[in-house]
Amino acid sequence: MAETPHLILAPIRGITDCYFRSIFHRHFPGFDSALAPFINPQRHSNFQPKQLKDLLPEANQEMVVIPQLLHADPEDFLFLAGRLHDLGYTQVNWNLGCPARMVTRKKRGSGLLPYPEQILAFLDQVMPRLSMELSIKTRLGLENKEELLHLLPRLDDYPLKEIIIHGRLGKQMYRGKTDREAFGLCLEQSRHPIVYNGDINSVPGFRELQQQFSQVDRWMIGRGALANPFLAGEIKGMDQPNRLEHLENFHRELYLCYRELLSGEAHLLGRMKQLWVYLSNFFPPQPKTWKQIKKCHTELQYQRVMETLFTAKE
Ligand SMILES: Cc1cc2nc3c(=O)[nH]c(=O)nc-3n(C[C@H](O)[C@H](O)[C@H](O)COP(=O)(O)O)c2cc1C
Repeated sequence: MAETPHLILAPIRGITDCYFRSIFHRHFPGFDSALAPFINPQRHSNFQPKQLKDLLPEANQEMVVIPQLLHADPEDFLFLAGRLHDLGYTQVNWNLGCPARMVTRKKRGSGLLPYPEQILAFLDQVMPRLSMELSIKTRLGLENKEELLHLLPRLDDYPLKEIIIHGRLGKQMYRGKTDREAFGLCLEQSRHPIVYNGDINSVPGFRELQQQFSQVDRWMIGRGALANPFLAGEIKGMDQPNRLEHLENFHRELYLCYRELLSGEAHLLGRMKQLWVYLSNFFPPQPKTWKQIKKCHTELQYQRVMETLFTAKE
């Protein structure tokens, strides 16, 4: 078992943008790198530089970041990967896991998993012309777990950097538990480095996974870290005192950052509310407070709820 696990902050579109990643990392050390949320898949003929805003080097000074593409068209993928290479990136990740209906019905994300021939044809076209390393983030399948199990050995001959596996099916969205048994079978089916992803929410839970999958030394954590921002540091055994104060400072910095960036109260509050979907789990249950956050329409209302929340005793 590796002594210090490599922890990767998972992409959570709508939350883990470059501002979040930087501020989060400054306040809560523990993650070694982050995978950025996917870039919207557009035809390369429609390319606009603002598509890469989240990945500009100057906005990503604090944390090692790998960009992610959701494209299923080789030419569009190669074009955008080329722009990312121009920005200095040396690795790109291909999303084969997104479960959203809008995405899967276009045969993108986990919607491609039932079509292994198309995945291999894509790699055949892309890999020889790609001037960067390629990794893949995937689920067990769209409809059934045989999809990935059968695909994995066929990926062995491609020089992939790693394969990140979230142990659910696309059709499950985020329901049910991650299928650890299927993840274990996947490990046996691939010669590539495999990253574990899915439902790492606590240190004991993480240790259990580490014991079960002793050959894995890279782990991706998403919602667990949004619900407990100290989780990566806890896993690494870091001393993290004055948690509530720490969290308050993080929240303030993030809020002020978005306040400056986003136009209008609704936009700002919408963004903060999305974070509270997860972060509320850090606090003892208080349905009244979460209801108040959801119902905030003005900054003043929001700030008042935050004041009460953060002045409560730890
Ligand atoms: C709101 C939301 C947005 C997500 N956006 C992305 C994304 O852009 N790219 C991606 O590969 N995965 C995305 N995911 C999946 C997560 O990265 C991760 O695989 C999943 O949440 C399971 O890990 P966790 O249990 O540690 O959160 C998203 C998940 C959620 C809930």
